[in-house]
Amino acid sequence: MSHPTSNDICALHDVPDGGGVEAAPSILVLRRGGEAWAYRNVCPHFSIPLNYEPDAFWTYEGSLLMCAHHSAMFRFEDGVCVDGPCLGASLRRIPIRIENGRVVIEGPDIT
Ligand code: FES
Repeated sequence: MSHPTSNDICALHDVPDGGGVEAAPSILVLRRGGEAWAYRNVCPHFSIPLNYEPDAFWTYEGSLLMCAHHSAMFRFEDGVCVDGPCLGASLRRIPIRIENGRVVIEGPDIT
């Protein structure tokens, strides 16, 4: 039996399907079905959070995340900006795995 570690940041079902949440301080988790991706919640345009209300991330068709400030659009699967003022820039990826329905950050303990 596995025990939650500090790298265990949320349950997959805590993340709305096709949406995102801030699962840990400054860590955004996006989900589509059984897949999830994590990024630093920092827009590469102005280095500020992508949302301006807690956990209010704007997404489009479960595939694009829109920055709340100047509408840059980022792909869920690689964090690349495909439209907007920072076209071609990327969100900073945090490697994760799904384990027993939980989203777990890969690598050394983050605390
Ligand atoms: S701060 Fe995100 S698009 Fe400008």
